[in-house]
Amino acid sequence: MEATKTAVAAFVCGAAVGAASTYIATRHLLPTRPQREEHTQKQQLQQQEGESVLLSDTGELTDKEPTDKASAEGEEMAAASPIPAAGDTQPPEVSSDTTHESGGHAANGQEGDVPDNANENCPGTASDSAGKSAACAGCPNQAVCASGEARKPDPAISEVHDKLKSVKHKILVLSGKGGVGKSTVSAQLAYALAGRSHEVGLLDIDICGPSIPRLLGLSGQEVHSSAAGWSPVYVDENLAVMSIGFLLPNQDDAVIWRGPRKNGLIKQFLTDVAWGDLDFLIVDTPPGTSDEHLSIVTYLKEAQVDGAVIVTTPQEVAMADVRKEINFCKKVGVPILGVVENMADSIFQSPLGGPKIMCEKMSVPYAGSIPLDQQVMLAGELGKSLRKMAPESSSVGRIEKVVDNILTRLPIPMR
Ligand SMILES: Nc1ncnc2c1ncn2[C@@H]1O[C@H](COP(=O)(O)OP(=O)(O)OP(=O)(O)O)[C@@H](O)[C@H]1O
Ligand code: SF4
Ligand SMILES: [Mg+2]
Repeated sequence: MEATKTAVAAFVCGAAVGAASTYIATRHLLPTRPQREEHTQKQQLQQQEGESVLLSDTGELTDKEPTDKASAEGEEMAAASPIPAAGDTQPPEVSSDTTHESGGHAANGQEGDVPDNANENCPGTASDSAGKSAACAGCPNQAVCASGEARKPDPAISEVHDKLKSVKHKILVLSGKGGVGKSTVSAQLAYALAGRSHEVGLLDIDICGPSIPRLLGLSGQEVHSSAAGWSPVYVDENLAVMSIGFLLPNQDDAVIWRGPRKNGLIKQFLTDVAWGDLDFLIVDTPPGTSDEHLSIVTYLKEAQVDGAVIVTTPQEVAMADVRKEINFCKKVGVPILGVVENMADSIFQSPLGGPKIMCEKMSVPYAGSIPLDQQVMLAGELGKSLRKMAPESSSVGRIEKVVDNILTRLPIPMR
């Protein structure tokens, strides 16, 4: 029974990853149905509110200013993007609206995207019969699909690789469960590495719930653009941070986006931010195995992720979701650098076992534990490094031990 469940989970996970990779690979070539719907929604929104919009016709955030021709013809969706191109002097701002787009993932046995203008029984742009099946006859995309262009990987993957050449190590912080301390661990990991004189970047790809600006004491900060790209916000000269939280006009604004738009911003965070030479880029993620995770893993495919730090709390309820995250990592080939047991030594301790036993059973490394500690919480509330704020706290040593364990697992271990 357990084996069957695992097999089903792996299949579902694999299918999702395949669909997402194909989706990211093909979406730059062909429009998808939901994106056209959004175009209309956005136009309606513009008409209603007189507001500018944020999407390019591929569903990505655009950094292109509208041309006179485009505005005159009313053909370009992106009128005065809130996110400026590198070189713009205006601080970027994200409009947080409730328009929706869909990932354009395949359904009903189709592989890859089904463009909005596809024929009724489209086999999917990534299928072997794309452009060649009887269903493709007369489809306006037939030439592109038949040429195989649509199956080629998104050039953004190579672009990300080039842009991140000066980043030695890329580490994802993940958990299947929400609220277990991913952002806290990301923040304290970044502080600890910076405290060891490494050059550190911290990227927050939790688009809908960015906590990193607060946890790093950077609430209200803004991102500036220069010829080199968007400048991250610096905590110290060797600790740079980027988050959608810096782009929101109002901290309490809700960002309600679906796949393509999140993908677009994550790509921009990887290609348009002037990270400079980094020893570590730590990526804080939202809970689960959703769009953001598939995007970051896909975009970093060539740039290569060193591995993932998985955060869990000791309860079985949390670990049940964390197991899925571990299987996700195994499925997409992201090595696990260690599982961090957060909020340990507390009322959350479960009689049903614990993270250490889970790690043994799943053959993944246990990186250590961080206690449930008011000082850890306070460091987050005040946006400080725990080591600097409360050097006497026993949690400092526990965090440093976790960092040691993670570093020994890197392909090129560092201190
Ligand atoms: N070891 C700890 N001791 C005490 N409080 C903690 C500890 N770890 C995290 N917290 C607190 O728990 C709350 C949730 O932490 P955090 O935001 O880091 O979780 P998360 O997994 O990133 O959440 P989300 O899934 O929403 O992104 C925060 O208030 C944080 O300060
Ligand atoms: S050519 Fe075929 S595979 Fe391509 S979009 Fe049209 S129907 Fe789909
Ligand atoms: Mg978080």
